[in-house]
Amino acid sequence: MDILADRLKNIPSYLFMELRDKIRKAQAAGVDLISLAIGDPVEPTPAYIIEAMREAVLDPVNHQYPTDEHKGMLVFREAVSRWYGRKYGVTLDPETEVLALNGLKEGIHHFILATVNPGDIVLVTNPGYPAYRANILMAGAEAYEVPLLEKNRFLPAFEEIPEPVCRRAKAFFLNYPNNPTGACADRDFFTRLVAWAKTHDILLMNDNPYSEIVFSPQRRLSLMQVAGAKDICVEFNSLSKSYNMTGWRIGMAVGAEKIIHAMCRCKENVTSGIFNAIQLASIKAMDGGDGEIEKMLAIYRRRRDTVLRAFAAMGQPIKPGDGTFYLWIPVPHGRTSLDYAEQLLDQAGVLVTPGTAYGRYGEGYYRLSLTVPDERLELALKRIKDMA
Ligand SMILES: Cc1ncc(COP(=O)(O)O)c(C=O)c1O
Repeated sequence: MDILADRLKNIPSYLFMELRDKIRKAQAAGVDLISLAIGDPVEPTPAYIIEAMREAVLDPVNHQYPTDEHKGMLVFREAVSRWYGRKYGVTLDPETEVLALNGLKEGIHHFILATVNPGDIVLVTNPGYPAYRANILMAGAEAYEVPLLEKNRFLPAFEEIPEPVCRRAKAFFLNYPNNPTGACADRDFFTRLVAWAKTHDILLMNDNPYSEIVFSPQRRLSLMQVAGAKDICVEFNSLSKSYNMTGWRIGMAVGAEKIIHAMCRCKENVTSGIFNAIQLASIKAMDGGDGEIEKMLAIYRRRRDTVLRAFAAMGQPIKPGDGTFYLWIPVPHGRTSLDYAEQLLDQAGVLVTPGTAYGRYGEGYYRLSLTVPDERLELALKRIKDMA
């Protein structure tokens, strides 16, 4: 009996399908594989957050169902509101404009189930984070892919989306700073986009987990900074990348009250909330961690410079984006993304993500992540140089 529901049949497995066998074989053969493929910081969660967690875990009150259930504790939502106020000058009502998430990724699912009907179109950028498309398909909706091209600084040319598509589109998923390209948006782009979306009655969601990992301060932006954004936009954020808390599963949705309310309707039937202790530790994280973020930024900047220098020395200069801990690198001329990623795996024992894992417009690129210790990164670069 085929037990798999039809709604899952068109959804490809996550990311590394094509390389899975090769990775397994290399591991079985004892190859010292260096993975530059995953965006998961190796540095530990800062000590002041661990300490806050330790205290919260010891309090039996926190062992019961989470306070305020699916919405997140009010004190957590207030902390998110303070954080957005301090970082971006954005005012958010913690009662109606903030929702806690069990990691940002969960929010993508709730947003789509809460706002999109079967047969609707959802606009997504390509290349893009694969979870958007998967969730759109799960909801029986259609993903319309808007290319991110280098000639447009990896920003979508939204004005070129055909009128009949705009008419059927319910929402547009964006992600700046962008995974995988590293591109950042600017204020003018966000302002034009919000005006365009209002004209077409399209909801906007900016996925912003890399908000703190930006190398040019003027590019540190929130979509919520645009006047009137709260009418039709939400932004999702997360403590995963900013505070080295990927394993903790804690994030937030902020913005348009009607979208937050709709997401709550969905979420209250799916989850009973997030462990209080995690929320309490996250409050401490957000209220106090700017120095830790600066330290991480310095580490990523150092690694980024190391890679840029190494590639320049190989005669393959890279134009880096302004944000994220990823570099989006063109494959050598005449090669495909997959074919080159396979060669790096086979001949250098270095794992990168082929650009096509993020969609067809990722062809011609691969993504390299800076979330590895410096010495492993340097060894990987040496192996790539020796292979060339
Ligand atoms: C663009 C993007 N959105 C969302 C996520 C998931 O974030 P979280 O760990 O908060 O679920 C990632 C993680 O890699 C990401 O790159």
